[in-house]
Amino acid sequence: MKATTLLRGQHKQVRDLFKKIENTESPDMRRRLLGRVEGELSAHTKIEEEIFYPAVRSLETRKAEELVNEAYEEHHVVDLVLNELPQVDPGDERFEAKMTVLSELVDHHAKEEEKRCSRSPRRSGVPSSTTWAAAWKRGIASSRARAGRGWALSGP
Ligand SMILES: [Fe+2]
Ligand SMILES: [Fe+2]
Repeated sequence: MKATTLLRGQHKQVRDLFKKIENTESPDMRRRLLGRVEGELSAHTKIEEEIFYPAVRSLETRKAEELVNEAYEEHHVVDLVLNELPQVDPGDERFEAKMTVLSELVDHHAKEEEKRCSRSPRRSGVPSSTTWAAAWKRGIASSRARAGRGWALSGP
C-alpha cells in the first residue's frame, strides 16, 4: 500500500469516529468512541513520527523542515487536548466543546498533511509496504501498552 493511501485511510477513520461522537448523546458511547479515537491517533502519529516525517525531512529543503516542525507542534497540541478529555464528564457541555476543538485541530492538521506532503514522500523514497506494515504493528502494540487507560483499539 502506498504511504499516502495508508495515511489518508487512517485520517478518514478518525474523521468518521469524530462524526459518530458528534451524532451520539450517550455518555457511554462517547467515552467508548473517544477511546477509539485515542487508539487510532496514537498508532497513526507513531507511524508518521517514525517514518513519514523523517522521509519528508530527508528532502532537506527549508519548506520540508518547516512542515515537519509544524506537524510535530500540531501533534503536541492534539495530545494536550486528548489528555484532558478523560477527565471531563462525557455528558457535560465542556466535553462537546473540547471534542469540537479536537476534531477541528485534527481535521486541519490532516488536510495540511494530505495537501502538502502528498508528493514529498514518494520523491524522498518512502519505505516499502513491508516496513509500513511493521510500523503499523508497532503503533498498535504501543497503543495496547497504554491499556491502563482502558482504551479499546481496533486493528488496521
Ligand atoms: Fe500528523
Ligand atoms: Fe496524519
